[in-house]
Amino acid sequence: MTARITPSILNADFARMGEEVTAIPSADGIHIDVMDYHFVPNLTMGLPMVQSLRKVTTTPFDIHLMISDPDTWAPSYVEAGAESVTFHLEAAKAPVRLAREIRGMGARPAVALKPATPVEQLADILTEFDQILIMTVEPGFGGQSFLDVVLPKIRRTRQLIDATGADIWLQIDGGVSVETIGRAAEAGADTFVAGSAVYSSDDPDAMVRELRMLAEQRQH
Ligand code: DX5
Ligand code: ZN
Repeated sequence: MTARITPSILNADFARMGEEVTAIPSADGIHIDVMDYHFVPNLTMGLPMVQSLRKVTTTPFDIHLMISDPDTWAPSYVEAGAESVTFHLEAAKAPVRLAREIRGMGARPAVALKPATPVEQLADILTEFDQILIMTVEPGFGGQSFLDVVLPKIRRTRQLIDATGADIWLQIDGGVSVETIGRAAEAGADTFVAGSAVYSSDDPDAMVRELRMLAEQRQH
């Protein structure tokens, strides 16, 4: 198996975002956390940031929408050049319709679950998505501690994905570091968001490569 690392720019320097993004050429994708102060108690960035960053890098964009109304806004992120758009199951009014709309526009539809949301809610609609995001912190802020309590859900998600036979990526997000990435990889994750671990490192690109190596050592 290969491990993909998609660094979150939430902990990057917002005044130098273009440079921060181009400083991690080893990244498999740039994870962009969109928060609306309603779905989560924090406000970050939106379409203008995505449109501007699209001009400075060809690395795929992995948009994570932590917003109350993804049904309205997700398609605009595809238009802005995102390769992958993730919305929360807890927020979407019509997740299947929205996933099909994103896929129809040529991007990868993805769905996220907060720590307390059981993955079984997705069991019947898994193949509508190209990626499942299991949150390993409560969404809203970078720099929180990895929630080990979510590990059994990562294992169950891996089993559900394998049973479909489809190439669906299993992403985790929150508290990923050199200490925690191995446990998540062992549980079945193959795509890893890392925010503070990458951007608080002296050498962010080297950290991306180290995290990938540590994950691949523990994958089955
Ligand atoms: C949290 C965001 C994460 C976060 C990751 O709500 O979705 O992407 O920025 O940051 P770290 O890696 O610091 O937990
Ligand atoms: Zn995120």
